[in-house]
Amino acid sequence: MRVIITGAASGIGKAVAELLAQGTALPGPHQLLLTDRDADGLAAVAAAIGPDAATCVADLSSPECGDAIVAAALDHMGGVDGVVSNAGIIAGGPLLDQTPDQFDLIYAINTRATWLLGKAAHPHLAKNKGAFVATASMSATQPTPGLGFYSSSKAALLMLMRQCALEWGGDGIRCNTVSPGPTYTAMTKAGYDDAERRAQRESMIPLGKLGMAEDVANAILFLLGPQASHITGIDIMVDGGMSNNLMPATGGGTGQKASK
Ligand SMILES: NC(=O)c1ccc[n+]([C@@H]2O[C@H](COP(=O)([O-])OP(=O)(O)OC[C@H]3O[C@@H](n4cnc5c(N)ncnc54)[C@H](O)[C@@H]3O)[C@@H](O)[C@H]2O)c1
Repeated sequence: MRVIITGAASGIGKAVAELLAQGTALPGPHQLLLTDRDADGLAAVAAAIGPDAATCVADLSSPECGDAIVAAALDHMGGVDGVVSNAGIIAGGPLLDQTPDQFDLIYAINTRATWLLGKAAHPHLAKNKGAFVATASMSATQPTPGLGFYSSSKAALLMLMRQCALEWGGDGIRCNTVSPGPTYTAMTKAGYDDAERRAQRESMIPLGKLGMAEDVANAILFLLGPQASHITGIDIMVDGGMSNNLMPATGGGTGQKASK
């Protein structure tokens, strides 16, 4: 497949690139257009993969990002069979303290960029009956203290992708999301390197551990590939079961917490 991956310099996007390049979970050959705003990180990931990976440094907060990234993909790969719109930022604070500029920035990156990329890639995905996958979040369905813009931008992303599934299904394009729960990446490293905080979080996860970038990437590869050939408009939660833990956390039922 010829696949565009955003946020490919780090974390989940990097893991998607590496797993595709390995060609085991989703047999290749694959050509990749890796994009991120972090030029150095992107170059390192591409260098480790080799000639099947090209790069495009782009800032997803720009209204021109979709056209620029798809132009680079056509230049390097000659077409597009898959798009993984994965990049995102987490930023926050109480809603009462936030500003319109902060709102616009997080929605531009976490929500609008996916629409811009899908719109620019649409003719190419339609031609190749391709797949469009976006990384949302468990926060899209769980209001999260201090992360009101983040969680609502991801909720909008979930619906945007369902809308794409509806509007573009007739063109043969499958559109789905993956929603990670707590996952150990650069985005969350500072918090989870605190042993006490990590243990507290893991005690809330029925499978007893944080997710790793590869756990999420494997779900993305499934949705990209032919095994998901009749699946569109869905979200796969990759959270170790954490989103099912409300009743135990509040002492409902027997109040039993996840055991190791
Ligand atoms: N790690 C988690 O616990 C978790 C949980 C739920 C959802 N997610 C989502 O997973 C996705 C990937 O995050 P991750 O955990 O791999 O984090 P990460 O920080 O390791 O990777 C995110 C990448 O996106 C890039 N990026 C950020 N803003 C950009 C911009 N304006 N233009 C271009 N690139 C930009 C960063 O440079 C970085 O390489 C994000 O959408 C995030 O919201 C992560």
